[in-house]
Amino acid sequence: MKYTVSRGTKDILPEEMAYWHHIESASRSLFDLYNYQEIRTPIFEMTDLFERGIGTSTDIVEKEMYTFTDKGDRRLTLRPEGTAPIARAYIQHSMHKKETVSKLYYCGPMFRYERPQAGRFRQFHQIGVECLGNAHPFSDAEVISLGVHLFDDMGLSGLSVSINSVGCVVCRPVIEERLKQFIGANLQGLCEDCKRRFNSKPLRILDCKNPQCRAYFSGMPDIQKSQCHECRDHFNSVVEYIDSLGIPFNINPQLVRGLEYYSRTTFEILSEHLGAQNAICGGGRYDGLVSQMGGPSVPAVGFAFGIERAVMVLQQMSDIFKRKDPLIFVAPLGFEQQTKCFFLVDELRRAGIKCEIDYSKGELKAQLKQANKLQAEYALIYGETEAEKNTIVVKHMTKGQQVEIAWDSVVNYLKEAHGQP
Ligand code: HAM
Repeated sequence: MKYTVSRGTKDILPEEMAYWHHIESASRSLFDLYNYQEIRTPIFEMTDLFERGIGTSTDIVEKEMYTFTDKGDRRLTLRPEGTAPIARAYIQHSMHKKETVSKLYYCGPMFRYERPQAGRFRQFHQIGVECLGNAHPFSDAEVISLGVHLFDDMGLSGLSVSINSVGCVVCRPVIEERLKQFIGANLQGLCEDCKRRFNSKPLRILDCKNPQCRAYFSGMPDIQKSQCHECRDHFNSVVEYIDSLGIPFNINPQLVRGLEYYSRTTFEILSEHLGAQNAICGGGRYDGLVSQMGGPSVPAVGFAFGIERAVMVLQQMSDIFKRKDPLIFVAPLGFEQQTKCFFLVDELRRAGIKCEIDYSKGELKAQLKQANKLQAEYALIYGETEAEKNTIVVKHMTKGQQVEIAWDSVVNYLKEAHGQP
């Protein structure tokens, strides 16, 4: 039996890690600058939380959740997203009583039983922000601008912002009625999911990914025209603010997103480097979610982006992450020399110098081959001759030059070579 990772999951190997660290640290610094604070919620929660929060007519709840019953007969689900758990934590810890506005960010694995393909996994990682307590369109614009700022800081280019408004509880029935009128004549041509959603949640039909269904959506009535004055004013303000911040965007009237909690603003940031799964980031306003989950009526807006997708974009864009800190390779020749070098690498590492040693008692040629393979900047060669003279040879691996220096001066020599004080 050969074990491999489960379908739709992957190992994140050391060579990819520099990208992950870059993305995580750029996110943490920028979130701090915008005064967001980190929150960590459990990987699994009660299934009902996601059914209620995300909505029973969504692909996620209908088909994609990893749900199980534990030994105590509880129905639990591996979190498919972070917003419903944040709303749960917000209510559970009465955050609304502590601050008028709570600005939270999170980072971690999410789970969706989707058909795996490039950029789409069953375990993937999201970084997201949720701003709870502010209903003003400035807040939507600030969150969108934070997303754009974040990808700029990470060095991602070729991105575009799509934005829409899905209305609120007041105008949603009007929007849905208009959609039903439009779709009604074509209903037989649509997929089974769409047919089922036609009566309960017609807006969800716009989220259908089936190309045959999508063909029917061109010529769809503009859902913004059916919105109430408040929703239209809100949307116009968001658009005006992001425009005045110099953020290029396009309005996509079909952008309803795959989660039911959205009200008013929905948006996505798309990448030209990603192929079919081109959404790197998605978000929007969800003014009804906290109260729907049993909390106070608190407006909120946020977004999340997929780390795997951000890594894919960075990998296509540059090789800056392929550069590593300079490495020193220590090559002892002979058993006694090994013991002295065992203490030398400890001293070097304590002095902040990155180094590697080979204890395999290999010949010099084999050790230098290994140093080359590791792309070491210098090899330190210490054989019997050097031991007798109390010296060590420092060989520059790419230039090929070497110098013999006093054993006691090697740490200072390397520090100076690296430009350290
Ligand atoms: P979402 O659009 O479902 O939104 O996911 C956000 C991002 O997570 C996507 O744009 C994508 O980059 C990444 N993602 C989603 N599914 C996968 C997958 N199967 N494989 C790889 N990456 C994936 C949400 O989850 C909302 N909670 C966002 C939000 C926060 N809305 C308001 N606040």
